[in-house]
Amino acid sequence: PASDPALVERARAAKDTLGERVFVLGHHYQRDEVIQFADVTGDSFKLARDAAGRPEAEYIVFCGVHFMAESADILTGPHQKVVLPDLSAGCSMADMAVLSQVEDAWDALAEAGVQDAVVPVTYMNSSADIKAFCGRNGGIVCTSSNAEMALEWAFDQKAHLDGGGKVLFFPDQHLGRNTAVLKMGLTLDDCVVWDPQKPNGGLTTQQLADATMILWKGHCSVHGRFTPEVVDKLRATVPGIQILVHPECTHEVVLKADLVGSTEFIIKTIEAAPAGSSWAIGTELNLVKRLANDHPDKNIVFLEKNVCYCSTMNRIDLPHLVWALESLVKGMVVNQIDVDDETERHALVALQRMLDLPG
Ligand code: 13P
Ligand code: SF4
Repeated sequence: PASDPALVERARAAKDTLGERVFVLGHHYQRDEVIQFADVTGDSFKLARDAAGRPEAEYIVFCGVHFMAESADILTGPHQKVVLPDLSAGCSMADMAVLSQVEDAWDALAEAGVQDAVVPVTYMNSSADIKAFCGRNGGIVCTSSNAEMALEWAFDQKAHLDGGGKVLFFPDQHLGRNTAVLKMGLTLDDCVVWDPQKPNGGLTTQQLADATMILWKGHCSVHGRFTPEVVDKLRATVPGIQILVHPECTHEVVLKADLVGSTEFIIKTIEAAPAGSSWAIGTELNLVKRLANDHPDKNIVFLEKNVCYCSTMNRIDLPHLVWALESLVKGMVVNQIDVDDETERHALVALQRMLDLPG
């Protein structure tokens, strides 16, 4: 539905009043009614860099989810305030790895005698204290656009060890597995899944000793719903259709896809695609709809009909954005995301390692 014109006018007026003092970031999964007010749009990696590149903005309004706003707070200066227009915009995947569970896993790796060989790698989709854990323990953050480089970096840290190193990857088992197997030349047998609900992750000491990738049992509730059967069905019914998916999809889906990459990669691929080409896209629905609208010369369909929007991304709507902006105009900072100094210091180490990766 079209945005409420009165709210559109209010958002525009508030932004005009705030001018350069405010910088609005919008993740690609945001609603159209919100994305129209973003000064920059991007995937989670690009937005982290863009947030860090605006030291003159007093307020950073983050239209995305909680872990992204936390990362923006960590990467921006102490004089800058980060606002998340709706505090309930979390991420169910990020919630699947809690610091105490990760610390238990780390202790279990020590007991199994393998901890010295392990580098912790956290997906950006994790809380700030998990990123801080990685910073304190020689680890790194990655996003879907640099997971391969981050894993290379991690294995390089332990290249001097006999038998090489291991990675403990959390919270998304699918991004970890897809990157390890499809980009790093590892096999499925090199990967084990650590289940935080089970004693010792449900793994034996031998399994931990043999594994190269220890994958946390977490997933995205949106991307986890795409199925390989739908890919087969589409290929059978739409001649020449190409399947483009996000690496948070299951390994079975990614194996059947033609191309896999972050939201930024998905957008660039569609922009470069020839007119008349057909695409089925497996990622969040707001982005797929926007791509279909922006490229009427290409046949763009959603990979699966019963997959829905990311409900937490969708919490950021125009009324919340207007409220956040108008509050700033009145000098009130609502819904500020403020990571404590100690967590910030260590999380920054892991985030900076990611930002320093080549490319
Ligand atoms: P990217 O923007 O890094 O592709 O990640 C998608 C996502 O799920 C963000 O929550
Ligand atoms: Fe989290 Fe998945 Fe939503 Fe991304 S799409 S914010 S990973 S629940």
